[in-house]
Amino acid sequence: MKSKIIREQRRKVVIVGAGAVGATYCYALAQSGLADEIVLIDRNEDLVRGQVLDLGHGQPFFPTVIIRSGSASDYADAHIVVITAGAAQRPGETRLELLRKNAEITGGIAEEIAAQKCPGVMLIVSNPVDILTYVALKRSGWDKGRVIGSGTVLDSSRFRHLLSSHCGIDIHNVHAYILGEHGDSEFAAWSMTNIAGINIDEYCPICGKCSDWKKKRQTIEQQVRDSAYHIINYKGSTQFAVGLALVKITGAILRSQNSVLTVSTLLNGEFGINDVCLSVPAIVSENGVTRIIESPLLSEELSLLKHSADVLKKANQSL
Ligand SMILES: NC(=O)c1ccc[n+]([C@@H]2O[C@H](COP(=O)([O-])OP(=O)(O)OC[C@H]3O[C@@H](n4cnc5c(N)ncnc54)[C@H](O)[C@@H]3O)[C@@H](O)[C@H]2O)c1
Repeated sequence: MKSKIIREQRRKVVIVGAGAVGATYCYALAQSGLADEIVLIDRNEDLVRGQVLDLGHGQPFFPTVIIRSGSASDYADAHIVVITAGAAQRPGETRLELLRKNAEITGGIAEEIAAQKCPGVMLIVSNPVDILTYVALKRSGWDKGRVIGSGTVLDSSRFRHLLSSHCGIDIHNVHAYILGEHGDSEFAAWSMTNIAGINIDEYCPICGKCSDWKKKRQTIEQQVRDSAYHIINYKGSTQFAVGLALVKITGAILRSQNSVLTVSTLLNGEFGINDVCLSVPAIVSENGVTRIIESPLLSEELSLLKHSADVLKKANQSL
């Protein structure tokens, strides 16, 4: 009986796609101690074997965790299934161009997860992430809160990194969010950006180090938008920061943390937007998104969010 209880509480994460993002996430997750069991699945079986062996050899240095290869039957008792399978973004290729290629892969995996009656949360990472989250939601037939995308959690961390360096303030005291599409139409919600509770525009005169903050603001926002393109041009793919962003989302779910994260989630009237997945501040807990926070955005920010929704809806319709 005791062993059954222990078994039922085992925190199991299944990662579909053992490439750069899937393996890096697995490595970071294993170090975090959040999961008891991590299962890797990839259509490239040699790659999975190699990754499992390589990660397994690190087990003396991780908190206790099982890392193994698996199959679709592993979805049946997974707390989270994370989908990183698909084609990576190539230099010069926009995320929307990846759409058709990856929609079929993610949609097929979502159907398999639903067929196994997985009780957990589906976390989509493959790009274009907002559209694939919408595809996975529709193809699984699950409740909207249980199918989420990594959205702009990564972009928001890039934004915080740039603001932290510019202002010379510990990143943990910089609160800032990128909203909308994880892609070209994303935008910085400046009205929600604060340092130690002080709105960034009010903080600037207190700090007094900047000569032209308005211009600098635009540069920072554009740098966030261009980050992935730069990294892909340098080294072919992005993997470390996204891996850590995924661990943050995983922790919110496995520990039922009620964390506010800008994951991609279906909007049903919030902000006057319907039937599209994109990133807004949302409360994430064991059942995925339990509530969307309708932040009082400025009218120009609301217009940018609606523009992002229109871009994504067009892409959804093109499928
Ligand atoms: N959302 C984000 O913030 C973010 C950040 C970085 C990358 N990404 C995206 O993550 C995805 C993965 O990137 P990567 O660099 O790891 O790519 P990768 O090519 O290294 O890995 C992808 C893996 O998916 C596997 N795969 C393909 N089809 C499959 C299927 N049907 N079933 C199982 N496995 C399958 C491939 O064999 C490959 O190993 C890409 O779509 C990329 O654009 C998203």
